[in-house]
Amino acid sequence: MRILLARLLVAVTGLVIVLMAAAFALIRNAPRDAAVAPSAATSDLVARGRAVYQAQRCGRCHSLGGEGNPAHPLDGVGARLVERDIRKWIVAPQEMNPRVAKRGYALPAGELDALVAYLRAGTAN
Ligand code: HEC
Repeated sequence: MRILLARLLVAVTGLVIVLMAAAFALIRNAPRDAAVAPSAATSDLVARGRAVYQAQRCGRCHSLGGEGNPAHPLDGVGARLVERDIRKWIVAPQEMNPRVAKRGYALPAGELDALVAYLRAGTAN
């Protein structure tokens, strides 16, 4: 009787372990699928922003990740400035500093959004 009980206990314990493993697998994998979509969309936006940055030749005056003009590094700018100020520095720099030698960029809204996302993404890395 004792041996039977012990075997039953082993079997039940094994079953509980398998069920818990299955439960954890479900819990851990479900949100990953949900998270893939926004992060893929974000990296797409960031990639478009990088293209805008290069097309507008911001690197003439700025450096990012060791490339470009080291006079005005933009690394980690998302940590130094709020998004609104980053936009102003691009669209109307004289509103940030009246004496700055930099023109404002009239970019289509989508390009500006992507560019700002690109500059802010550097902060997270
Ligand atoms: C003619 C040179 C020049 C060009 C081209 C230029 N900038 Fe600037 N930018 C500056 C200067 C000068 C400043 C102010 C100095 C500083 O704070 O580094 C500045 C400031 C900034 C800032 C704030 C930086 C900080 O750390 O406070 C951002 C963001 C920025 N520029 C983004 C851009 C982007 C994006 C482009 C391309 C669309 C661009 N700039 C093109 C000269 C330039």
